[in-house]
Amino acid sequence: MTDQLTYPRGCTFAESDWDILSQFWYPIAFSHHVKDQPISATLLDQRLVIWRTTAGLSVANDICLHRGVPLSMGQVQSDQLVCKYHGFHYSSEGRCVLIPSQPGASIPPKLCLKTYPVKEAYGLIWTSLAGGESHPLPDFFEWEDADYQQILPNAVDLNAAAGRQMEGFLDVAHFAWVHTETFGDSNNPIVPRYDVTPTANGVRAEYLSTVSNFPKGLQDLAPADFQWLRVFDVYFPFTARLTVHFPDDGRLCILNAASPISARKTRVFCPICRNFDRQMPLEPVYEFNYQVFAEDKEVVEAQYPEDLPLELLAEVHIRADRTSIAYRKGLSALGLGTVYTA
Ligand code: FES
Ligand SMILES: [Fe+2]
Repeated sequence: MTDQLTYPRGCTFAESDWDILSQFWYPIAFSHHVKDQPISATLLDQRLVIWRTTAGLSVANDICLHRGVPLSMGQVQSDQLVCKYHGFHYSSEGRCVLIPSQPGASIPPKLCLKTYPVKEAYGLIWTSLAGGESHPLPDFFEWEDADYQQILPNAVDLNAAAGRQMEGFLDVAHFAWVHTETFGDSNNPIVPRYDVTPTANGVRAEYLSTVSNFPKGLQDLAPADFQWLRVFDVYFPFTARLTVHFPDDGRLCILNAASPISARKTRVFCPICRNFDRQMPLEPVYEFNYQVFAEDKEVVEAQYPEDLPLELLAEVHIRADRTSIAYRKGLSALGLGTVYTA
């Protein structure tokens, strides 16, 4: 049970949802952004500081226990996190080890930061506010595969709920309407029947269609009747990976890891791997990716109610929505949405 006092200040989630969401792992920063100085991040309304020492990465609440100054304003000195205001030194485990104004005096044991477990994977720093013991990180093994090129676009921030963003990533009926400047074809709106099956930590959808994944202008690179397979693997609650099967056994893998800053703000990290065009410049990949996300952002930020409705009767579903129906059912099965706040 989560102690009532541990909810973040100004928590925008229903407490019952926060209790469940806090058990999972989420990316909160890029590994390469945390070098010799602390940085801040916010997850599920909890303000965090991330810093690196010779002991590795540490994540803690971003508040000095002396006078409430964010520790991300401080610096790492001699392998310790030092507060900007009065210079209290904290160890990599969050324990205060030096009060410079009274160096000989004993240090109260309660001068110990609330810390969280941390993992580095896929170029990202992940944490879990409630410990994460019972949940794995999503699988993205191509990140370690020498046959693949690893690509790390900037994160995309949305004024939207993570569930809405995730469902948009899984939606296959919007390509012909929203992605007309990137890869979608407004003359090809039909969604063929496809299957959704349960997996250990989510659901899998296998979608076969003639919608090309090549950017507009390059779409004749594929044989005219080529059938594009898109495999979506959802890891509840807010991560999914998409594997697009290109001609000649090409594979493009996109991890959509939606990190809930609050109930209304989401930061999407999307590491990409591909086993083709590995010598080609990355600028066009970044450009294409940002444009696709920008097309989605306009719609997802406008949707309301802002929370993803988990009560299935709240919105109308069509056959093309099989993945999102399974997604909503999966989130409900986690216990989310018992208090509907939108
Ligand atoms: S507020 Fe951090 S040392 Fe005083
Ligand atoms: Fe989209």
